[in-house]
Amino acid sequence: MVSSSPQSVLNPSSLLSHLGVDNEVRIGTTSSSPFTGSPTFDEVPFHVDVNKRPNLGTYILIQSDDSCMAHYGRITNGQEENPRAEPSRLQQNQAYQVGQQEPRQSDLSPHVTRVMMTEVLGQIYLEKGSLVIKDPEVLPQTGMSVYEFPVASIPTLLDAPKSKEDGLFLGHIESGGKKLEFFLPLDAPARHMIILGKTGVGKSYASGVFAEEMIRHGIPVVAFDVLGDLIPATEYKQGRNLKAAHDFRLPYSVIGRREFLNFVSNLTNDQEEIVGVAYESIYAEAMDSLRTTGKLNISFDRLIDEIGRVANEFGQGAVGGRAVGKVRAAINRNPLLATNIGGWIEDIIKKPIVNVYVGHLGQSERNLVVGASARVLQLLRKEDQIPPFSFILDEAHFFLPGGSESTPSTQVIREMIRTARHDAISIVLITQSPSSMDRQTLLVCNTRLVFALDPDDLRVVSGTLGDLPDATLKRIPKLARGKAILSSSQDILRHPVLIKIRERETPAAAPTPNLSKAVKQWRKENNQN
Ligand SMILES: Nc1ncnc2c1ncn2[C@@H]1O[C@H](COP(=O)(O)OP(=O)(O)OP(=O)(O)O)[C@@H](O)[C@H]1O
Ligand SMILES: [Mg+2]
Repeated sequence: MVSSSPQSVLNPSSLLSHLGVDNEVRIGTTSSSPFTGSPTFDEVPFHVDVNKRPNLGTYILIQSDDSCMAHYGRITNGQEENPRAEPSRLQQNQAYQVGQQEPRQSDLSPHVTRVMMTEVLGQIYLEKGSLVIKDPEVLPQTGMSVYEFPVASIPTLLDAPKSKEDGLFLGHIESGGKKLEFFLPLDAPARHMIILGKTGVGKSYASGVFAEEMIRHGIPVVAFDVLGDLIPATEYKQGRNLKAAHDFRLPYSVIGRREFLNFVSNLTNDQEEIVGVAYESIYAEAMDSLRTTGKLNISFDRLIDEIGRVANEFGQGAVGGRAVGKVRAAINRNPLLATNIGGWIEDIIKKPIVNVYVGHLGQSERNLVVGASARVLQLLRKEDQIPPFSFILDEAHFFLPGGSESTPSTQVIREMIRTARHDAISIVLITQSPSSMDRQTLLVCNTRLVFALDPDDLRVVSGTLGDLPDATLKRIPKLARGKAILSSSQDILRHPVLIKIRERETPAAAPTPNLSKAVKQWRKENNQN
């Protein structure tokens, strides 16, 4: 028999009846024992009612002796005690063949005790007819009823939106065997997001879900794509797919002095100095033009003239002449460089998504493309020449490596992340290797979507995951593909949640190949059977 709790759940003014909680969803009684623990401000054990099977992660409500207040939390752990299942008892049963009764006949067996542990997330009050959430400050009591929290009210606990119109529909929360759509508040994107997880767990898939949601809310997406993951989705959404060095080029005048000089091989020190000084005045002119007109068209000849002018000013006309030859050769050779921006800036204004494929480039060229593009985008955004947008960068550890390593993109992207909130740019970084990534950047991203991660990588981010109990942290390495912990700063999302990423509307990239099948296919196609 399930006994009813001391507090009447029938009292119509009580919190429980307001939430629609009754004995149907009662799952146990808070307990106290030297072995399984007693209630603290952080954790509460409870004895599980006979025939109730609450799932791990279920949101729960713990009644208190105040009918207007309850604690709420989540099931993080559980254990079943059964002295008849002690290994030595089981051995004796077999050795003496005493025909012992089954060690566990049912949940109702008097020697079987099931106890679960819950993490306390907060307190919920009924005040003047509405629900108010507070941090835990009152000690939970023993002997109190524990209920499954009504799924429909979970967004209230999390301070998350209740509808698609007010949030980004990223996936589902599960509680008590039921599913609920989860919406990330719209404040989150502008405070930046990082998607973490080892290889093949669903990061790129999830970034596609994020892109779909940004598009649904009318926010343009700009992505730099190393593996071609977003190409099919861009096509599906009638966005613009571009390929660096083919139909996407960098205006030479904005890539930065160091980067430009890297393009020109074999300059002597004197030549480098002259070209560097000349480049800087071109760069300043370019920034000015972008700022005031949003456009850019500084011919290569302008740079050549400027090199000549600077060389003459230094009294080094001949040196300048030789430098000009090398600069011309470098510019003509390189398909990445151009004088103007091309149409992609207009595409950002007109199309839902612009995806730039950079997978065929070497890493230093990718860095250059992403760094220079980020610089242009940030500048145009600051001057309001383009609308707010979302910037998605997969394989971010290559562009923002940790330690003392610094690439042309590191500085620019770091700066963009630092100030982007004020410029209304949303940055989404994706990495399988947080331990090799720039720490500062990891910390600045307010929202984290953490898929299964190896313990070493998990250690790097575990401090940033909010109020996750150790038991949940320990399970992160074993999360199934497509499941992730979403955590954000408290003013965006009150508690971290485990979500199952929703299905994509847009086509995802090709699935991970089955090598055995792929080899057979190859042999067939190449007549090598
Ligand atoms: N939520 C999901 N639902 C259905 N399929 C998924 C889901 N998440 C991932 N997949 C599939 O799993 C495979 C791997 O996913 P994905 O490419 O996103 O992994 P990843 O974490 O980006 O890996 P890598 O680090 O190697 O890039 C893909 O075939 C993808 O379609
Ligand atoms: Mg990927």
